[in-house]
Order: sequence, then structure tokens, then C-alpha cells
Amino acid sequence: GVEISIAVLLAYLLGSISTAIIVCRLMGLGDPREGGSGNPGATNVKRLYGNKAAAITLFGDLLKGVIPVLAAYQYGFNNTEVFIIGFAAFIGHLYPVFFGFRGGKGVATMLGMMLALSLPIGLAIVATWLFVAKVLKISSLSALVAAFLAPVYIYFVSGEVSWIYGSVVITVILFWRHRTNIQRLLNGEESLIKKD
Ligand code: G3P
Repeated sequence: GVEISIAVLLAYLLGSISTAIIVCRLMGLGDPREGGSGNPGATNVKRLYGNKAAAITLFGDLLKGVIPVLAAYQYGFNNTEVFIIGFAAFIGHLYPVFFGFRGGKGVATMLGMMLALSLPIGLAIVATWLFVAKVLKISSLSALVAAFLAPVYIYFVSGEVSWIYGSVVITVILFWRHRTNIQRLLNGEESLIKKD
């Protein structure tokens, strides 16, 4: 219908607002796509410009997943529709219309989306990311493990069939966006999350 189409478009536009690029611009820093891994995301902003810019980036990109999902629930969309609306924000983050379709890898926006869809599911995924990051200190690998387990958590916690399939789609896309990271991981060359 018209309503879901408009909601998907709005979520996509919100997802297209690349927090990393905007925050770095406003703080007088460079384009995060030009340095480090070249990814406009919190990890690369931390790598290039430190914790403060990275924390703001993370928060902004999380909100891009949270806001459309909560708004969609509020509006009365069903569970499947809410998921599709969150997915549109995730796609916006990856392929932002405002930034030449050169966006990020979707980890923070996916986390925000999952937290808003279902707090237990979202927390399980976030906890997985944090645990792997704490132990192995590699952001990309933490994201890959967390994304891999997301459909499993959804299967056990909610059992919502469209969410199980949808989360598999997200995981496949997220792995594809991390293909250079996966290559670096296999070569033993992936960069560590360092304290600063
Ligand atoms: O959120 C993206 C993260 O998983 C990897 O970022 O900059 O190390 O490619 P990066």
C-alpha cells in the first residue's frame, strides 16, 4: 500500500544520512572514506579521529535503526512491515542517496534496528559484538560473529518467520559489505581496536 511505501522511503532517506561523514565535516576533520579502511562508520572514525567523533557516529548510526522501527510500531504496522521499514534504513546507510551511494557496512544501524524490534534480541546481538570485541579486539570480526548469530537469536527468542528470513538477508549483505575485512582477516592483516 501507499503507507508502507512512504514509510520505506522515509526510512531509506533517514538511513542515507551518513553520521560519520557529517560528524567529521562538522568537526573539521576529513572524509572518513578517504582514510583508514575507507569506511564511513564508527570504527574507522575512531581509527582516524579518536573516541569522541566515533561515539557520536555510533550513536547517530544506531538511532537511524531505532527511530524508523519505533515509529513504525507506533504507527501500527505489523511485525513484517516494521522489519521491512528498519531494513530500508539499513540499506540507506549502505547506499546513501545523499553521499553518492557510498555508505557504510551497516553494523550500528543493524544493531539499532534489532534493539528497537525486540530488546532481548537486540541485547543478545550487542552482547555478542561486545564479547568478541573484548576478547579478540577486532571490530569487523565482532560484527561478523554477531550478524551470523542474529538469525539464531531471532529463531529462539521471537520465532517470527519473516524476521528470521529477513535477518538472514541482512547477514548476507553485511558479510558482502565486509568482504575486504574478511580477506584481511584470512591474511591475518585486520587492524585491531586500540585504546586512545
Ligand atoms: O562497522 C564496520 C566494522 O565492522 C568494520 O569497520 O573500518 O574496520 O572496516 P572497518
